[in-house]
Amino acid sequence: MINVAILGYGTVGSGVYEILKKNPDTITKKAGDILNVKYILDIRDFDDHPEKEIFTKDYNDILQDNDVSIVVEVMGGLNPAYDFTKSALMSGKTVVTSNKELVATHGTELITIAKEKNVNYFFEASVGGGIPIIRPINQCLAANTINKIYGILNGTTNFILTKMFAEGTSFESALAEAQELGYAERNPSADVDGHDACRKTAILSSLATGTFVDYNDIPTEGIRNISTTDVLFADKLGYVIKLIGAAEIDEAGKISAIVAPRLVSKESQLSSVNGVFNAIMLVGDSLGEAMFYGRGAGKLPTASAVVADVIDGAKHLHTNKWVIWDKPEESFMAEPMDATYKYFVRTTDKNLIADLGGSEVGTTDEEIVFVTDEMKEKDFLSKAEERCSFIRILA
Ligand code: HSE
Repeated sequence: MINVAILGYGTVGSGVYEILKKNPDTITKKAGDILNVKYILDIRDFDDHPEKEIFTKDYNDILQDNDVSIVVEVMGGLNPAYDFTKSALMSGKTVVTSNKELVATHGTELITIAKEKNVNYFFEASVGGGIPIIRPINQCLAANTINKIYGILNGTTNFILTKMFAEGTSFESALAEAQELGYAERNPSADVDGHDACRKTAILSSLATGTFVDYNDIPTEGIRNISTTDVLFADKLGYVIKLIGAAEIDEAGKISAIVAPRLVSKESQLSSVNGVFNAIMLVGDSLGEAMFYGRGAGKLPTASAVVADVIDGAKHLHTNKWVIWDKPEESFMAEPMDATYKYFVRTTDKNLIADLGGSEVGTTDEEIVFVTDEMKEKDFLSKAEERCSFIRILA
């Protein structure tokens, strides 16, 4: 029997428990042993729970129990998740997590400790919820040099943008509905301002390059400024608007990464990824293009990825499965201002189109709307940043 402790009995933690109880026979067969939930750590009381005796409020119960081999950290946030994870790995326990903030911030250190202790730090659920993407990059696509990885990494913003397109609703009312349905938090900043997608982009970029990418180095914009006018024009021009996390790796190994709303052609597969679904496109030098699609959030989809990691952890209890995630000696991020895009522009400044160049695509009562040719971000921003609202077009 392999003992497991779950840290945090929220949406994902209760989903992990549910799946382990729901499918014990198949899970035992796949793990090669019975997976027993010995502890659940939570500060709240769960007196009506059928196994209320396994709940604890004291992490030391878990840490000091040598019979616990796998710790599932699904608390979220940096603290105390960081201390709990580090001490569990140091004491020779494998840790499985869905916590993208922790992986994006302390991944290098935690992966190194896991390696030194010959255990594992697995985080399949940290990007794309239930969609397999971490293991495919690390294992199935290991033969490839990855040139590009990009996609829709946040379900809440995709729900809001889908709603704005399908029903013509404003950002504010689509956000209110996302909050009512429990997708967006009361404070929706992490989702709508792009921070969640940024951390996921940093994790994907780190795995794609084998070198830690600091999320602070990824320019990040959210979707608060997307208006119904943008939606109308995008639709008329043959585009949808999606929040895209993207990383491109050039031949010298420099990474250009950005998280921002983008106009996505209706011919792109990403354009039909709607609601809370996520999709990740990856271009490998041997494979070519591949797309990973599915539920990027939610109780059972996320728990499905966590439990798969627990099973893998059980099969490799004292064998570290290598993850290449080195600390870079010097920055290998490309200068964001040198990136090139075509821009969709709305402005009341009638001179701007002459200053930037481009093709007019329409007018509103006060504005002209145009699309630029491909140009450098620094040239665009220096001439246009204060004079218009704009959205970059996904090439
Ligand atoms: N808030 C995230 C989303 C949850 O909306 O995608 C999964 O990371």
